[in-house]
Amino acid sequence: MQFFVDTADTGEIARLQKIGLIDGVTTNPSLIMKSGRDFKEVIAEICAITDGPVSAEVTATQADKMLIEGRTLARIAGNVVVKIPLTMAGLEACKAFTEEGIKTNVTLCFSANQGLLAAKAGATYISPFLGRLDDIGMDGMDLIEALRVIYDNYGFETQILAASIRGPKHVQECAMLGADVATIPPNVFDALVAHPLTDKGLAAFLADWGKTGQSIT
Ligand code: E4P
Repeated sequence: MQFFVDTADTGEIARLQKIGLIDGVTTNPSLIMKSGRDFKEVIAEICAITDGPVSAEVTATQADKMLIEGRTLARIAGNVVVKIPLTMAGLEACKAFTEEGIKTNVTLCFSANQGLLAAKAGATYISPFLGRLDDIGMDGMDLIEALRVIYDNYGFETQILAASIRGPKHVQECAMLGADVATIPPNVFDALVAHPLTDKGLAAFLADWGKTGQSIT
């Protein structure tokens, strides 16, 4: 399973890249707004930090304009993946990008049928939004399960990129259901590492080590 980091904060991306935890990056217009940075500048900087796929989202709503924006974004670096919304116009743009050899991430997927259409349009990645489904009383994990079955039934190569992840339980369940990638906010990476018994065990070991009066170096 691959891990992407879901942020436009280059400091956080560099921190996680150094530890070797991330295979790519996803951004969206809200994350760009939160960064306070120029969109194209920050995407270029992220692409210099990682060789992995970096999703950059179009903001046009018509297919022809999405194509112009997406080609502009794809020219920033060879690892840019053009992110497009799951609308009819987005699917049309997805098919055209695929024919041009530009990788795509079809975003804002909330149903298995939407995911099926994105695969038929040749999407490189499909982004089902788990947390936002949970927020309205549905179970986002049902969508991951359904997409896995459908893509495997027909041999679609579109990768399931679990998005809108809110905590460690989402990550574990996605891994168990066979999602190809999880895009994870930086704070959730920290939550994945943390365990109170690890902290307690380490504190006890260090206390006992102190009593030996020894030093390793
Ligand atoms: C990733 O591609 C999505 O844009 C992101 O995971 C959305 O997460 P949110 O629902 O927490 O905003």
